[in-house]
Amino acid sequence: MPKIAITSDIHLGHTTEKTVIRLIQRLTEEELDIFAIAGDLTSCPWTVAKDFERILELCAERFKLDAIPPQLCVLPGNHDFYKDSRKGKGYSRKLYNELLPKAATNHGFNWLDELEFVQCDDVAILGNVGWYDYSAKDPNIPKNDKWYWANKHTIIADKEHIDGDWSDKKFARECRDHLEEALTAATESPEIKKIVVITHVPVFEEQMTRRVGDYNWNIGSAYFGHLTMGDLIKKFSKVKIVVSGHTHTGRDAVVGDIRTCVIPSEYKYPKALIFDTKEDLTTAPIDIIRVN
Ligand SMILES: [Fe+2]
Ligand SMILES: [Fe+2]
Repeated sequence: MPKIAITSDIHLGHTTEKTVIRLIQRLTEEELDIFAIAGDLTSCPWTVAKDFERILELCAERFKLDAIPPQLCVLPGNHDFYKDSRKGKGYSRKLYNELLPKAATNHGFNWLDELEFVQCDDVAILGNVGWYDYSAKDPNIPKNDKWYWANKHTIIADKEHIDGDWSDKKFARECRDHLEEALTAATESPEIKKIVVITHVPVFEEQMTRRVGDYNWNIGSAYFGHLTMGDLIKKFSKVKIVVSGHTHTGRDAVVGDIRTCVIPSEYKYPKALIFDTKEDLTTAPIDIIRVN
């Protein structure tokens, strides 16, 4: 106890509602204590608020039929910040600060980006989107942070679709500061023995995928990770596992005594990881649930 399932990168639109329902239906067989979604619930910039809420509704409807429903947690991914230009300036921030947390509350989900932690027995579940601060950039590509900001539009769609007064490094810092507060609160709680960290953006080098000779992929690495957040997490000894999404490229490694994974979701085929925190997570099997 507790038994935890985490999915990510559902990208409704690429993934059909039918597939989402099958995944959740499959997970209801697991008698979960915690179910979490690690961001990128949506795909289409025009309908982020509606699609985000729809995924939460589909999950909540099914899990509430469980004899003992799991606690539900959600955090956003970069796609869940995509603006609807018909709704005026600053819409990305409005999604993050207002519309998505409200959707979470409407369907009984804990919005991890604003909470210190969710407690289940002696385990704290905490996290946030993480964002990227270019600290995961490929060391073999001689570009500085200024270059990655100025050329972002040529590499990743986030630049075009996120509006408002935006700075990746500033926002990543905001996420890191919030995580530090959450980790400190959980560490100081005598009831908490283990911490589970969930982020959308990977935070450890061991979660990154470096592809030798693939320039386009490797230059994108600046937007795929937040390694300064990982450095922070390593300072908190109660952290036993860190699970992330975003790259859609599965990873499973051990960093010190922290197990760390990236959920191997694919467009159209989201996956979920399941583990039990009563086990030694450095060696315990982590099941991958797929519904192809
Ligand atoms: Fe994604
Ligand atoms: Fe993402």
